Amino acid sequence: MERFRRAGVVLTSFVLMVVLAGCGSEGDLGQRVIRIGHNQATDHPTHLALLEFEEFVEERLGDKYDVEVFPSELLGSQTDMVQLTQTGAIEFCVASNSILETFSIDYTLFNMPYLFASSEAYHAAMDDPEITEPIFKSTRKAGFEAVTWLDAGTRNFYTVSVPIESPKDLKGLKIRVQQSPTNVEMMRLLGSSATPMGFGEVYTSLQSKIIDGAENNEMALTSNGHGDVCKYYSYDMHQMIPDILIGNSAFLDELPEEERRVFEEGFALINEVERREWENAVAAAKDKAQKEQGVEFLYPDTAPFQEICLPMHETILEEYPDLRPFYDAILEYNQMYADEKPEGGSDS
Ligand code: GCU
Repeated sequence: MERFRRAGVVLTSFVLMVVLAGCGSEGDLGQRVIRIGHNQATDHPTHLALLEFEEFVEERLGDKYDVEVFPSELLGSQTDMVQLTQTGAIEFCVASNSILETFSIDYTLFNMPYLFASSEAYHAAMDDPEITEPIFKSTRKAGFEAVTWLDAGTRNFYTVSVPIESPKDLKGLKIRVQQSPTNVEMMRLLGSSATPMGFGEVYTSLQSKIIDGAENNEMALTSNGHGDVCKYYSYDMHQMIPDILIGNSAFLDELPEEERRVFEEGFALINEVERREWENAVAAAKDKAQKEQGVEFLYPDTAPFQEICLPMHETILEEYPDLRPFYDAILEYNQMYADEKPEGGSDS
């Protein structure tokens, strides 16, 4: 297994070298090449939205820029891609908010379990620049910044063979999480053993039983094939973690005003297209997982999971008091949209 993994790493590094060296930074017509990396398959809303961005920018600034979108971890794992964006080796990448927590503690905020009361509250908070802007800019000194966010739905547990009906079912299970301290702590509180790893390694780890399950939105079942191996998907609704499009700050700062405006419009377009595609993609994934992969969807009472995780909020806020005003602003959205049901959490 380790041999295959190493072979995979070597292959990725090779592709990366070819991509970064071979293509140079000039397009066929002498334009500057803009590279955007992400880790989703080509049927995923993220990829579709980035292709619209490519078309949009090239339509308006095609004499200057040649936009290239690299899906499926072709440019490495999210952590690798953030580092490439940081140094300017590539211009943009999509990273989960979870990963960004290791680059700036400010991102811890959106990783808190049971932070948002509903998807409406989540969307409203993420659309509020007073909440997002300071966090999105917090990594400028490190060389990159967030330019927009993407919906990644609600994260829930899914397992190969153990239906998760209550937190006690998680006890002793090895569950893959993204590489963030908040996720590891959440799993510790829930009594299971967190196994942090990159997204691309999850499928083989499930198949070879290195892990008993994982947690993600429904797209992971179909788009990434996890539903071929995992037969129980349980709506405990523990996190709504956005994906974040980040860009190299020096590149963005150097754009002439007119061109910057076009890029900004393009970022808004990515957000709009991805969110438009998201709901349908999730509904289709759920249908396919049920009918073709034989995945059973479970709807446990979420209260016992919440009770265990909620004390994390105060612990985090005590450690990072600067986050409290943003947290309080989110609580206001939670009150405003308290009655809406979180996405996916009903069998009706
Ligand atoms: C989702 C999310 C990705 C993330 C992945 C993961 O698919 O959209 O950005 O990498 O979960 O669990 O790693």
